[in-house]
Amino acid sequence: MKNILFIVGSLREGSFNKQMAETAEKVLEGKANVSYLDWKDVPVFSQELEVPTPAPVAAVRKAIMAADAIWIFSPVYNFSIPGSVKNLLDWASRALDLSDTRGPSALQDKVSTVSLVASAGHEQAAAIYRDLLPFIRTKFVDQITTSPVNDSAWADGKFVASEEVIADLNKQADALLAALNEA
Ligand SMILES: Cc1cc2nc3c(=O)[nH]c(=O)nc-3n(C[C@H](O)[C@H](O)[C@H](O)COP(=O)(O)O)c2cc1C
Repeated sequence: MKNILFIVGSLREGSFNKQMAETAEKVLEGKANVSYLDWKDVPVFSQELEVPTPAPVAAVRKAIMAADAIWIFSPVYNFSIPGSVKNLLDWASRALDLSDTRGPSALQDKVSTVSLVASAGHEQAAAIYRDLLPFIRTKFVDQITTSPVNDSAWADGKFVASEEVIADLNKQADALLAALNEA
């Protein structure tokens, strides 16, 4: 089975995006192995921090390289993507060998896809990922599942994926697995 690395773009305990990822994990049960990226200690990017590679960045690169695909579960912040996720992707996009800054990064040719949980601004955030993920040389599977936050979640913390969202996650998983079989 293929290995899919889930990147939950919110570090919040009880994150709705984390709960969406758990829903997607169920969708992939028996079809792929899922693991979650630990990226909470990745520092704010500075070129002055690149040598020697900070340990959390090295660990993130290793996990990405070991995976067949990445699946990002992202909140929408101010009708855009969270700065923390952009920071993570900026680190991951840097060449592994800094003497050749145009050389391959940990993300080179990695199959990628994105889902979004938010109340508003999905289209704006999706458009950014649609530009960004191919730009950083991933093979982007453009089958983005978007979900609103159910009203009750604000009170009880429980994200509920609708039947429609679960159907979309199934379509997205199938598209991702098809891309992996072609890769
Ligand atoms: C800085 C910031 C900006 C936000 N902007 C948006 C937004 O543009 N659209 C939206 O639907 N929710 C917005 N929210 C609310 C988030 O969708 C909400 O906090 C959600 O729970 C974040 O995802 P998580 O549950 O996975 O942490 C924003 C939250 C923060 C902290």
